[in-house]
Amino acid sequence: MQEMTKMEKIVGLCKRRGFVYQGSEIYGGLAGTWDYGPLGVALKNNIKKLWWERFVLGREDVYGLDAAIIMNPAAWVASGHAQGFADPAVQCKKCGAYWRTDHVIASQLVEEGNYLCPLGSCRTALGTEEELNKQSKSFNMMFTTSVGAGEESAIKTYLRPETAGGIFVNYKNVLDSMHPKLPFGIAQIGKAFRNEIAPRDFLFRAREFEQMEIEYFINPKTWETTFEEWREEMHGWIKAIGLPVSMVHELEVPKEDLAHYSRRTIDFEFDYPFGRSELYGMAYRTDFDLASHAQASGVDLTYFDEATGERFLPHVIEPSLGVDRTALALLCASYTEDSMNEDSRVFLKLSPRLAPVTVAVFPLLRNKTELVARAREIYALLRQAQVGAVVFDDNGNVGKRYRRQDEIGTPWCVTVDFDTLGEKPEARDTVTLRDRDTGKQERVNINELTDILESKLV
Ligand code: GAP
Repeated sequence: MQEMTKMEKIVGLCKRRGFVYQGSEIYGGLAGTWDYGPLGVALKNNIKKLWWERFVLGREDVYGLDAAIIMNPAAWVASGHAQGFADPAVQCKKCGAYWRTDHVIASQLVEEGNYLCPLGSCRTALGTEEELNKQSKSFNMMFTTSVGAGEESAIKTYLRPETAGGIFVNYKNVLDSMHPKLPFGIAQIGKAFRNEIAPRDFLFRAREFEQMEIEYFINPKTWETTFEEWREEMHGWIKAIGLPVSMVHELEVPKEDLAHYSRRTIDFEFDYPFGRSELYGMAYRTDFDLASHAQASGVDLTYFDEATGERFLPHVIEPSLGVDRTALALLCASYTEDSMNEDSRVFLKLSPRLAPVTVAVFPLLRNKTELVARAREIYALLRQAQVGAVVFDDNGNVGKRYRRQDEIGTPWCVTVDFDTLGEKPEARDTVTLRDRDTGKQERVNINELTDILESKLV
């Protein structure tokens, strides 16, 4: 039997252990959509919480926002997305699949000068580079929808392709209600939708995904220094979530590949098992968006700087992070196989603040009522102490429970045994605290358990 690739193992673990399922699976799925199960939503919520704490609650100059996904279509005309948010696509005449032309060319699958259909079971010749570019059609990636009843009166609009749109149209609202001084940012976490031509690589390229974005408004004179500051912030974030620095690389996006709104973009790429690809992006959007919205809406979006007496349109630095790509990168970086006590095991080496379960509490044996009752008490104590997510587990033997918790990345397990109950008087009211990465167990006093866990969580 062929060995499974690392990616196949991760996708398998995600389904088996309740992280991520195929979207609409019982109906055969829907390409480019994924559903997060109980552990996946916990991981994603922990990512979002950490980001919000760091960049909104942790700063004086960033304001939160939660704008509607469905916006007046005029906003997407002004932003240039209705006309220009498109990728070039070619169709394979044999299997009917559509591919992004640039991806076909980058695939390097060439035979006798012809690029081949990337579908493994097809591999039909699609043509030379020149022929591909000639056949290629521009495909707008925004999902359309209609708002209102009645075919004639309904308005056709779009599901937002980036959360940024909602931020730009609320810039003046935030300015007028919160009176921030430049530089300041508006941050938003939310869904974005793109009708990707070829969704691929699990969560990497989906049609529905989440973004965490900040539009940081500045005086244009400072754009270079602010760009550097946010570049450092991006690296700080990457370190804080525990992604190995050696797996993240900056890519200066060439001028010809810049998005229509950007004067400079750096991509932060990650070494996924399927290759190096974009994790996050950071762009200098100039005043492209505010200028376009001011012109299209007729609303004055200038800023008056009281200190200098200047009036101008702020420029924007935009750090843009995908939640799903963060989850994927974390799963890929933390997936570890090793052996412990002569047994092979799989574990997720997730940072304790991101792991879906922080502590699992076990009674050594499930059929001893005193052990179960004491373990339940400790479980209640830890839940009350708010040391992250706590679960109670009495299924199977302790060895199996450790393996199960390792596989979902639980950093600590607490076991209540007969010594806890006083079989060894000197060990009464102590439990074992096991570390996921080393498998080492220490005996700790129940009174000190929450303090110990809190200190490890910092
Ligand atoms: N507002 C700027 C913007 O949207 P982008 O590079 O198109 O820029 C930003 O997207 C981030 O959103 C990406 O770096 C990635 O993390 C995430 N992202 C974009 N398209 C995605 C997709 N189809 N599936 C999953 N995540 C995606």
